[in-house]
Amino acid sequence: MPAPREKKDRYDIVVLPGDGIGAKVANDAATLLEMVAKRCGFGVALEEIACGGKFYLQHGSRDWPEGSEQKCADADAILLGAVGWAGPDGAPVTMKGNGELDGKMAGWSPVIGNRIKLDLYANVRPVRCLAGTRHGISGKFSEVWGPHNVDMIMVRENTEGLYSGQGSISADNDRAIDTRVITHKASERVIRRAFELSRARGRGAPGDGKKRVTCIVKNNVLYGCKLFHTVYREVAKDYPDVEQDVAIVDAFAMFVLTAPEKYDVCVTTNMFGDILTDLASVLQGGMGMAVGCNVGENHGMFEPIHGSAPPLAGKDRANPMAMTLATSAMLGWLGRRTADDRLLRAERAIEEAVAAIVLRGSPLTADMAGPGAATRSAVSAAIREETAARL
Ligand code: IPM
Ligand code: MG
Repeated sequence: MPAPREKKDRYDIVVLPGDGIGAKVANDAATLLEMVAKRCGFGVALEEIACGGKFYLQHGSRDWPEGSEQKCADADAILLGAVGWAGPDGAPVTMKGNGELDGKMAGWSPVIGNRIKLDLYANVRPVRCLAGTRHGISGKFSEVWGPHNVDMIMVRENTEGLYSGQGSISADNDRAIDTRVITHKASERVIRRAFELSRARGRGAPGDGKKRVTCIVKNNVLYGCKLFHTVYREVAKDYPDVEQDVAIVDAFAMFVLTAPEKYDVCVTTNMFGDILTDLASVLQGGMGMAVGCNVGENHGMFEPIHGSAPPLAGKDRANPMAMTLATSAMLGWLGRRTADDRLLRAERAIEEAVAAIVLRGSPLTADMAGPGAATRSAVSAAIREETAARL
């Protein structure tokens, strides 16, 4: 069942807490969601589904319960914490494959599985540095970066590329092949989405105010990128009001840090997008602030881009802001889809609450404030309080 296009009394949300810090920040997000729903006058029914590496270790053959796929397909939206766990030997928990090394990551089904099966073809990742953001490189972040020069959206193709799940390892472990699938269809829709986003937000790149879509490729070497770039040029013709820009991925890795103000919307293939969004998160205070919106025509799944961070698990130190902002992004997506102002009010209140805490500089977790910083629980409580004060 596709997510609704009309206002509902009650929205059904699947919460996939996953592993490690993912589970903790997802629990906080669920509490926040119930609170804003009550205050804004809409209903939410949260269905929590255990999943990930720990689930696999406990259950042996699956990384989430049977029937979960359907529950995700039937939900109005999905909130995902993070998946990935380390086994007793310290290696990432991997499911049994056909051969010795070809098992998928335990946690594959809720993340890459959902992206592919629900056709969440665009992974929309805003890279915006909130005013007052402290941490970054040598603690000097706020003097250099803020919303005046870091305010872009990275759009990552989310269903194919190097993560298409096609490939093999030879039985003698001598040769591994990962097939990078790039199709015209998947490229076209994600590139179109990028142009639409540039138009919709309208404010352009922070440096010059120009609407611009930067296509990130390695088309001097890779066939898939030649196709992606060709499709980009075709689609761009429909958007004469948006400036075209092409960057080679390796050079872009430098440009995005040295001249972030140039970028409005960037679009790229799956793995480049995975790497570049972790890199670009440095500009917004780190992965603890970075959100990934997995969206297609019919479904949406929202997550922080950080992982499960097993070494941080159980220490109450994780930054809950990325998950919080993923929750507000979910409310925004669903609220715009259903023209439900109650959800949009909740979205705004949460966003403003996080921005206010970052601006005043407290409470913040260690990734944003250094040693002696606040705990995850304290930051989540402050977010709830600031949000409630706005509703
Ligand atoms: C992300 C994550 C995932 C990815 C992992 C958990 C498979 O890194 O959402 O960026 O690589 O897409
Ligand atoms: Mg990633």
